[in-house]
Order: sequence, then C-alpha cells, then structure tokens
Amino acid sequence: MTTYAVTGASGHFGRHAVSALIKSGIAPSDIIALVRTPSKAADLAEQGVQVRAADYSDPATLSTALDGVDLLLLVSGTEIGKRAEQHANVIDAAKGAGVSRIVYTSAPRADTSELVLAPEHKATEAVLRASGVPFTILRNGWYVENYLGQLDHNRASGEMVGAAGDGLVSGAPRADYAAAAVAAITQPGHENATYELGGAPAFTMTDLASALTVATGTTIEYRDVSPEENQAILEGAGLDAGTAEFVTALDVAAKRGDLYTESRDLQRLLGRDSTPLAEFLAAAAE
Ligand SMILES: NC(=O)c1ccc[n+]([C@@H]2O[C@H](COP(=O)([O-])OP(=O)(O)OC[C@H]3O[C@@H](n4cnc5c(N)ncnc54)[C@H](OP(=O)(O)O)[C@@H]3O)[C@@H](O)[C@H]2O)c1
Repeated sequence: MTTYAVTGASGHFGRHAVSALIKSGIAPSDIIALVRTPSKAADLAEQGVQVRAADYSDPATLSTALDGVDLLLLVSGTEIGKRAEQHANVIDAAKGAGVSRIVYTSAPRADTSELVLAPEHKATEAVLRASGVPFTILRNGWYVENYLGQLDHNRASGEMVGAAGDGLVSGAPRADYAAAAVAAITQPGHENATYELGGAPAFTMTDLASALTVATGTTIEYRDVSPEENQAILEGAGLDAGTAEFVTALDVAAKRGDLYTESRDLQRLLGRDSTPLAEFLAAAAE
C-alpha cells in the first residue's frame, strides 16, 4: 500500500488534487489530506480520506501529520513573505518522516524569472534539491480562474483594464495542473524532474476579453494602460497601495512574457491537450 499526502487539501488546488487521486484509482483511505483547519475538510473525511492537521508554520504538527506518508504533494502556501520558511519546514519534516518523493507546485521559470512571486519558489526549490529527498518540481503557470474575480465588474463596465499589453499568458484551469500533479506523483519516471507547465494556446488580454465576450454574451474589451495608470485605477477602486502595486507588477510580468511558456510538459503529463480557454470560460459563465 502506497500512501499519498496532499497539503493545502482544503484549498481549491488541493481539492482538485484529492479528487484526481481518487479518480485515478487510489483508495480514499490511502490519501491523507493535510489541512491547517480540519473542520474545512469534513467532506473529504466523509469520502474516506484521512484528514490530518498540519500547519506549515508549526513543525510539530508537520512531523505527526507526515508519519507513514510515502509520496507528498506539497502545494505552495498563500502567506507571501513567509512561504520559503514554511515550505522548508514541510520539506524538513518530510525528510524526517522518510517520505520517498516530494512533488512541489512552483512558479514559471522560478530560478531565473523576475516575477515578483518567483523568489520564494526559487528558495523552496533550492531547499528541496539540497534535501536529498527525491523530488518533482511542477512550475505551474497561471490559473485561468485568476481572471474570473473581476468578471461581474468587467460585464457591467464592458471592459477589462490592465497593463499587460500584448503579453502572452499560458494559462490553464487549476484542475489541469492538479491532474498533471497526480500523474507526476502516481506514475514512475518523474524523479528529480523539473517541468514548466502552461496551457496552450497562450492568450493575450485582448484574446481573453474576446473569449469572455463570447462566453458571457456581453461585449468586454481590453483597455491597456500604463503601469502608473493601472496603479491609480486600482487604488481608486479601493485597493491599498501595496496590493495595487503587486497586481500591477503581475501585469507588467505578463507583458514581459514571464507567464508564457512554449513547454508542453503540462500536456505531456495530462496525456491530452490542456483545457481550451473558451471551453473553460463557457463552463464558468454558467
Ligand atoms: N498559478 C497561479 O495562478 C496561482 C494563483 C494563486 C495562487 N497560487 C499558488 O497555488 C496555491 C494553491 O492555490 P489555491 O487556489 O488552491 O489556493 P487556496 O484555495 O487559497 O488554498 C490554499 C491552501 O493552502 C492552505 N494554507 C495556507 N497557509 C497554510 C499554512 N500555514 N499551513 C497549512 N496550510 C496552509 C490553506 O489552508 P486554509 O484553508 O486553512 O487557509 C488552503 O488550503 C496557492 O497557495 C499559491 O501558492 C498560484
């Protein structure tokens, strides 16, 4: 019996991963959902999945939670600024528990990218490589779900505003990246590999606005502005300066091509094409 643990299992990505593990034929009792807040995973326990408390910031919980785990999917955390240390805690505990391989969700070209999110992933990758524990690094591209948060506003205003220019984004749904992670963790041949995952074909924000227009039946146009103007617009909409700066930096990164990849690692792991943008948006618009 091989046991599979998934961190962040109460989150969007973790839930997709647990579902994909079950769909791949792994018995729910061989899956261990590691969650900060077990009450959020009551539905997983009802399916027969083992639910254990694990806080990335609390090494004692991690050692207990990882006891008896063979393969670990480490889903990167959400607390920006704390994540390098938190992920190192998980890797350390996994090593102590004798985990045989860690699959980590990283960021595009984490070791060389100027993306504002890259340094914590780069640091985690370095700890993982130095740990001596066999690993698989999945440098996940952008989630297309990231563009749904503003959809009501986009429909009401008839526009999407940003500073991403004609930058191409290799976006794919979380479910695709999670299915790829499950392929990487359940199948042989991925030991000590690093993959760049991205949806294809890539799209610009103008393409995205056109696809949203088709999916929603409401005309939405992309209006490109300077980073300074974008920052001012976001602050005017109520974002604090730091958050507006962060969001604008992501647009600038997209314009620079940081969210684009020509790699087809995602499709190879999936054994199929990634979900087309139009198909994803049509389902989301329902
Ligand atoms: N590629 C992209 O476009 C993109 C976009 C956003 C995020 N991400 C990355 O992908 C990850 C998964 O995305 P998601 O959409 O599934 O995020 P999510 O729905 O917010 O889920 C994040 C999960 O991480 C858990 N978590 C956070 N801090 C933790 C800690 N200290 N200890 C234990 N668990 C902790 C959360 O637990 P609680 O429920 O207890 O908070 C939650 O289960 C994110 O955490 C982030 O690193 C990627």
